Amino acid sequence: PEQQQFWIEQIKKDLHARNAVLIAHYYTPAVIQTLAEQTGGFIGDSLEMARFGAQHPAQTLIVAGVRFMGETAKILSPEKQVLMPTLEATCSLDIGCDAEEFAAFCAEHPEREVVVYANTSAAVKAKADWVVTSSIALKVVSHLREQGKKIIWAPDQHLGQYIQRSTGADMILWNGACIVHEEFKAKGILDLKKIHPTAAVLVHPESPQSVVEVADVVGSTSQLLKAASTLPNEVFIVATDRGIFYKMQQQNPTKRFLEAPTAGQGATCRSCAHCPWMAMNSLERLAATLTSEAEEIQVPPQLIEQALIPLKRMLSFQA
Ligand code: 13P
Ligand code: SF4
Repeated sequence: PEQQQFWIEQIKKDLHARNAVLIAHYYTPAVIQTLAEQTGGFIGDSLEMARFGAQHPAQTLIVAGVRFMGETAKILSPEKQVLMPTLEATCSLDIGCDAEEFAAFCAEHPEREVVVYANTSAAVKAKADWVVTSSIALKVVSHLREQGKKIIWAPDQHLGQYIQRSTGADMILWNGACIVHEEFKAKGILDLKKIHPTAAVLVHPESPQSVVEVADVVGSTSQLLKAASTLPNEVFIVATDRGIFYKMQQQNPTKRFLEAPTAGQGATCRSCAHCPWMAMNSLERLAATLTSEAEEIQVPPQLIEQALIPLKRMLSFQA
């Protein structure tokens, strides 16, 4: 705890001295989210983080989350310095969508509009017509469907299938998945509901179809937080990364939030519903990056130019 306190003080001092702002995702450790709150920073879903970073006047953005979030911040504000606690914090969706393979896939279907999820590299975004996050994907694809467009969707197959079912759009899907959300089990949720029959089930759409089907609300991290505050239920079963419990409980101190069961829970799985890459955002690494600047996001100018087009399309999209 003494060491923790030392880092916290150090980080606060360095953020202030550098006129830097801390932007954290809801899945980062609670201590990082607390620091963002205490230093005039920001906590949000991936779309809100992108908007906040682009609009904030600070010259240095400290992005606590995973690498695609840092890259998005850099693409939207190339003149700013973007630091992360560690550049090793990646995402299984990003890893599973190689830019060259994706280009070949797109080339097989040249007549289709290319829509990619934000959880991808800058190189993949550079090949896209649209970038979307989970909070805006349904609206963008509905809009494209109304225009009669056929779609290539990458990389999350579960989110893609959910959008396909909800909008009826003609979509060809890449077969990526999130290793965290893929683990939730519908049976486990239904068993838990037998114990808590009045609980509402909140599900992030990166979860498999069987899990989405037992949900009361399906949505991005921000949309799930909103549901937790607005629904009258006193108990919630939550199928997303456990990092979200920090904000959910803070905003609803009297309500009870239960983790949705994952494979092997109770037996061997201690932290299934926690992203290993989000967990890399430690105080120690955050303190170090503010001093060394070693973990700075760099995106080649040509990729910035290309990826900016679909990203800006997303940010200026009005349903
Ligand atoms: P949100 O867009 O809901 O924040 O989810 C992004 C994500 O999966 C981060 O892991
Ligand atoms: Fe990627 Fe899943 Fe981790 Fe989000 S929770 S960063 S989608 S692996």
